[in-house]
Amino acid sequence: MSYRALYRKYRPLTFEEVAGQTQIVQTLKNALKENKIAHAYLFAGPRGTGKTTMARLLAKALNCQNGFGHQCNKCESCIAINEGTHPDVIEIDAASNRGIDDIRDLISKIKYSPVLGKYKVYIIDEVHMMTTEAFNALLKTLEEPPANVVFILATTEPYKLMPTILSRVQRYDFDKVSDENILEKVKDILVKENVAFEEDALKEIISLADGGVRDTLSMVDQAIVYSDMNITMSSVEELFALTSKDDKLKLLLAIQNEDVAKLNVLLDGFVSRGVDIRRLTSDLLLMLKDLLIYKITKNADLIHYIRKEDCEKLLFKTKEINGFIDVLINLTNQFKTVNNPRSLFEISLLKMVSLSQQEQVEIVKPIVSVNKEPTKAVETSNTGLNIINNVDFSSTKEIVDDGHKIEFTNEDILNIMVQANKEHKNKLNQNKSVLDRLLTIPNVGKYVQVLKSSDAAIVSLNAIIYVSRFSDNVNKINLKENQIIFSKIHQAMLGHQVTIIALSFDKYQEMINKFKNLSQLSKLPAPHKIEIDTKLVQEESSTQKLAEELLK
Ligand SMILES: Nc1ncnc2c1ncn2[C@@H]1O[C@H](COP(=O)(O)OP(=O)(O)O)[C@@H](O)[C@H]1O
Ligand SMILES: [Mg+2]
Ligand SMILES: [Zn+2]
Repeated sequence: MSYRALYRKYRPLTFEEVAGQTQIVQTLKNALKENKIAHAYLFAGPRGTGKTTMARLLAKALNCQNGFGHQCNKCESCIAINEGTHPDVIEIDAASNRGIDDIRDLISKIKYSPVLGKYKVYIIDEVHMMTTEAFNALLKTLEEPPANVVFILATTEPYKLMPTILSRVQRYDFDKVSDENILEKVKDILVKENVAFEEDALKEIISLADGGVRDTLSMVDQAIVYSDMNITMSSVEELFALTSKDDKLKLLLAIQNEDVAKLNVLLDGFVSRGVDIRRLTSDLLLMLKDLLIYKITKNADLIHYIRKEDCEKLLFKTKEINGFIDVLINLTNQFKTVNNPRSLFEISLLKMVSLSQQEQVEIVKPIVSVNKEPTKAVETSNTGLNIINNVDFSSTKEIVDDGHKIEFTNEDILNIMVQANKEHKNKLNQNKSVLDRLLTIPNVGKYVQVLKSSDAAIVSLNAIIYVSRFSDNVNKINLKENQIIFSKIHQAMLGHQVTIIALSFDKYQEMINKFKNLSQLSKLPAPHKIEIDTKLVQEESSTQKLAEELLK
């Protein structure tokens, strides 16, 4: 016995056997019941979702000898339609019979009454492929269709049809069939075929087919042969060059461990197995989406693509996962423009590694008193974007160049200088990239610009002295009105608040000399709490407001 492809063998023989498309089935059944038959139908939708099947079912229902609307599959008419030999049901594939002659031929016969049944049914597949002349000939017929003729036009590309056609047909839009509906169908078929299977393996195939039943069944056919009547996950992965969930988990773990060498080994393995990088990317996105859901909800019922145990192994923070998702969505968009996605994919993985590194930069925890050992306060925490997101810049207004000056003495400056240390300065420099990100925030950018054109000369844990050759910068930094926002910017960089003051270059030189002299004399002040008042008191701000009002 010759082998028949599953999708042919299991073409639905009744409306009830159709998977999904429930609204279409219901509407057609109702129309048949009420005998409201249109002259022309358009079945539009993705391939392998049941358009041709539905067209044949409708043809059977119109002509069944065991009752109008039935599909008995036993009468002469039904059997002939199932076998493709019915004299009144004519299927034309516009993709191959495109010529005007074919349509003329068809039209010339249209006036003859049906031979066997009640209706002549013309099923024109891929109707958008017809030549313009053929189209126009068809259009004439659609304008004045003979009685007892039903046209069923099918297309995967309805937007290519002329409005003159669209306006003359009753249109039905076929959806992709849901994975659940397909799964049910496939399991049914495999039981009938005596094929063993792992349900996850079927799900994997179904997800590859993206809502197409025919594609699913074709792949199942291949899997039956490849896996010798037992469809397992590993056979499906091998056959379709898929990455397993374990592979993808390994990839994410390598990112977590910043193990670039391992990433390369994994990637080489994928490429040599012919893995589809685009698909791998979309799989990773699904996995990260689930991971994010799990991190937020801790509810394992809400995740499908990744196991709970695996979620526990991945220690990324939600912000990092968000960052990864951004990178991969970006990558997906870039895929459209390249032939070989491998190097783009590689770059994106490296980006993900560096994103997770950024999240782990050490920062100094704010401490109130300088007498505490600062090293004890060092801990791993979030900086960068994370902090930017946590700092509220919403109260920010335009930068002010006139207002209340922060007052500080030489003693205050020396106190900061004795507490200055390289470690703090390095930390600030490491997080300079935060400034570039803040540069684009409205109203914040101007403050950032001031800092970028000044030099953070002296950096202690709780205070930073900026030096600038521009008096305008010095002035802006030293205004109480601007202190809140400068402080917030530093919070974004360092994770805690600091006092910010500025010196002109000359003043700075003067203080450096003073510091040196005192140092030689061992007369530097002992470090003590920095008590520079940077707060704008309510009265001051209201007096200022009053002054502004009066000056208007
Ligand atoms: N909705 C569906 N329900 C059940 N089987 C389907 C469905 N859609 C497609 N199939 C299967 O795929 C095969 C091809 O379907 P077909 O109706 O020719 O798709 P289309 O015309 O939309 O490309 C059918 O023989 C059947 O086995
Ligand atoms: Mg078809
Ligand atoms: Zn019948």
